[in-house]
Amino acid sequence: MSAPRKLHIKSYGCQMNVYDAQRMVDTLAHEGFVETASVDDADLVILNTCHIREKASEKVYSELGRLRVAKDEAARHDRRMDVVVAGCVAQAEGAEIIRRAPVVDVVVGPQSYHNLPQLLARAKRDGRALDTEFPIEDKFAALPQPKPAAIRARGVSAFVTVQEGCDKFCTFCVVPYTRGTEVSRPVARIVEDVKRLTDNGVREITLIGQNVNAYHGEGPDGQPWPLGKLLHHLAAIPGIARLRYSTSHPRDVDDTLIEAHRDLPALMPFVHLPVQSGSDRILAAMNRKHTAAEYRRVIDRFRAVRPDIAFSSDFIVGFPGETEQDFAATLALVAQIGYAGAYSFKYSARPGTPAADMQEMVATATMDERLARLQELIDSQQHAFNQAAIGTTVDVLFERAARNPGQIVGRTAYLQPAHVMAPDDIIGQVLPVTLSSLERYSLLGTLATSPATIHAPATAPALTGA
Ligand code: 5AD
Ligand code: SF4
Repeated sequence: MSAPRKLHIKSYGCQMNVYDAQRMVDTLAHEGFVETASVDDADLVILNTCHIREKASEKVYSELGRLRVAKDEAARHDRRMDVVVAGCVAQAEGAEIIRRAPVVDVVVGPQSYHNLPQLLARAKRDGRALDTEFPIEDKFAALPQPKPAAIRARGVSAFVTVQEGCDKFCTFCVVPYTRGTEVSRPVARIVEDVKRLTDNGVREITLIGQNVNAYHGEGPDGQPWPLGKLLHHLAAIPGIARLRYSTSHPRDVDDTLIEAHRDLPALMPFVHLPVQSGSDRILAAMNRKHTAAEYRRVIDRFRAVRPDIAFSSDFIVGFPGETEQDFAATLALVAQIGYAGAYSFKYSARPGTPAADMQEMVATATMDERLARLQELIDSQQHAFNQAAIGTTVDVLFERAARNPGQIVGRTAYLQPAHVMAPDDIIGQVLPVTLSSLERYSLLGTLATSPATIHAPATAPALTGA
């Protein structure tokens, strides 16, 4: 048998890219590739790129510069190294990458990476290959399944794509162009994926999609099912301890989703609900299709059924035309809502989006200053949120051995890392932990259950809502 070929994959950007990278690894495992952590001994290097902001795509070209050196070195030793650019930069700038970067052998978009084996063969034959089509056939149907050993190696928490693409067309955003229009996967396919994962030790599933609560996949009854109904269905699968979903649009929060938060203990009370701005004028210019008051009402609907729910969000500062008054409205909204954490970004004009043609650019220095003020407010809220956990006893899903010998690390319902001293057979279990201190972003605590009784309560609470 020939030695396995080595694959090095580097992913940028969102959770969907992390998921796509795993599916590329699964696809290539069937072609005899094994993953390697080092670029230098790789036979195949894949950059799974992100186009959401300027800096993200700049990184690709600087990485390609480094790969040219590694590829030349391999050639000196008579070894072929294929370089693939995948992901959203590939989709948006495929032809330009081929022109600008001779080091690249294959360019493949996010909707066609199931064709990687054929594209690699084509590159070997013809020199280069490019595929940025949005194929009619279902990418998911064409993708080979992960091997059980690969699922186990990835740990107790896994992503499952339930929908892809977006029809919202926020004026700043490239996603509708790079990922395409909104497509939801059928319920039966998602259930198969989830069962395969839980059969192999996965306890927590995060349903992912660019606009996950626009989900409307076909149910077993032939009708489109909303996300809340899908969550109810998945919560009944044995082995599921925790369900999450990301990312949501405030406009698509329907009653089924609120009811799922009311009825399902397995559905974690932590929701990422981007708002981008607190100014109605800017929200309109962004084409977000809601006001700040409507966003607050959505938050209130969640809080009415789950008082312990916490939120995170995304913000853009310096959108074209943003005045000091608009920015003050963003700070006021953040102060009112009170977040467990949030991401904030400086506006970056993306080619081909409507906002890129807007005048009244905000000066870079002003953006820097607003970003710092917003981040300071968010950091203080996050710190207060984490601090408030000290002294409480909460459920933790244990994930892996920590760096400190003897310590196991898991996550609370709010994704806060929590460390305890314990034997490693608690990995994969949900156990109560009394939290005693906070070190930067990590909580430290002790198990609130004696090891003898560990096994019984581990799965039971999460399944009761089914
Ligand atoms: N400039 C800055 N931030 C952006 N985002 C999306 N597009 C842009 C852009 N052009 C941010 C939004 C989104 C997150 C994933 O990235 O806040 O929610
Ligand atoms: Fe982009 Fe999200 Fe708006 Fe869709 S809803 S266009 S993914 S920011």
